[in-house]
Amino acid sequence: MDLIKLHQHFFELYGKPEEKPRCFFAPGRVNLIGEHTDYNGGFVLPCALQYGTFLLIRPSHEMVVRLASANMEYRAEIPLAKLSEKVNGQWVNYPLGIFDQFRQMNLPVAGFDMLYAGDIPCNAGLSSSASIEMVTAFALTAMMQLPIEMIDLVKMSQRAENEFAGVNCGIMDMFAVGMGHKEHALFLNCLTLEYKRVPLELNGFSLIIGNTNKQRGLADSKYNERVVECQLAVTYLSPMLPVSKLGEISFMQFYKMQEEIPDLLIRRRARHVISENQRVLNAVSSLLKGDILQFGALMNASHESLRDNYEVTGFELDTMVAEAQKINGVVGSRMTGAGFGGCTVSLVREDAVEKFVEQVGREYHAKTGLKADFYLAQASDGVKEIS
Ligand code: GLA
Repeated sequence: MDLIKLHQHFFELYGKPEEKPRCFFAPGRVNLIGEHTDYNGGFVLPCALQYGTFLLIRPSHEMVVRLASANMEYRAEIPLAKLSEKVNGQWVNYPLGIFDQFRQMNLPVAGFDMLYAGDIPCNAGLSSSASIEMVTAFALTAMMQLPIEMIDLVKMSQRAENEFAGVNCGIMDMFAVGMGHKEHALFLNCLTLEYKRVPLELNGFSLIIGNTNKQRGLADSKYNERVVECQLAVTYLSPMLPVSKLGEISFMQFYKMQEEIPDLLIRRRARHVISENQRVLNAVSSLLKGDILQFGALMNASHESLRDNYEVTGFELDTMVAEAQKINGVVGSRMTGAGFGGCTVSLVREDAVEKFVEQVGREYHAKTGLKADFYLAQASDGVKEIS
């Protein structure tokens, strides 16, 4: 990101170059394994990325918040009294969701001039929205010197997404964006919010993100549908086991009780969540042992279950993963994020990366007509101020 240009852009929009804005950055995230487990109180293993959202912010000394983006045309100038009103279909709903949380928590809000700029693809399953929410929450807290813990900013951002963007997402994305740590993945228990940093020592392998560039059409409504299906699975199983989330059930318990779920579709949804939870545990121990092959095999199994049991992949993601898995030097490949389009993540031997990008890109294009993009994922720190 060219921060000098971004500052120029800021002064073109808001004038007064003698008053320097402060600059904040929040990363996006890639989830290595543990998909659709977070809202089920299960385990996840994401890491923060080197890509994300920058925010320049300065007091406006007026009763208005001005929001602009270097990536999007739409700009807004909103009086403080109206900060809780949604603007249909616009990116500003993400920051507005945070302002709304400040209001709900009776925290003070002043007027600000704000310019966002992202180097992370939007709507691709790499948490661009959590990154906007977290950079906003973190920056507002810093600007107003409020003593709010990072974990509370994480929870606030999740509520903003649930209430303002209408997606009943779990806590994984915001947690990774807030708590990310360089060269580490985060092993998070979404039920208790206990977490451990796991060193990402890949011993000659790289994590490559493949963007299918398939727009995630009805993703939000399908996502919310899965949330409801999992709750239904719990209502079938809870008479036998006193649990409130699928993540509290071990695979052995599920194996014995699965026939209590008469609806086969709901049974498959539960099978995904509960088996995926076990895969995260196995993946963490493989990583700690340096067993990259085992880690890759678990990634492959995760994709299979997301495709067959959870049905959140689709032609583009399945094609990209299948092409990746054909390459000598790829030990694992899977979709990452909510699915229904978006990105894959693959574990690729360093000397096979060039071939991977060329061959997967070519075959994917031939089969889908879409052009793929590839990025090297580097586990990075969470949200911070940049001096
Ligand atoms: C999206 C949501 C997360 C999580 C993933 C699927 O990224 O925002 O909370 O549920 O999908 O694992």
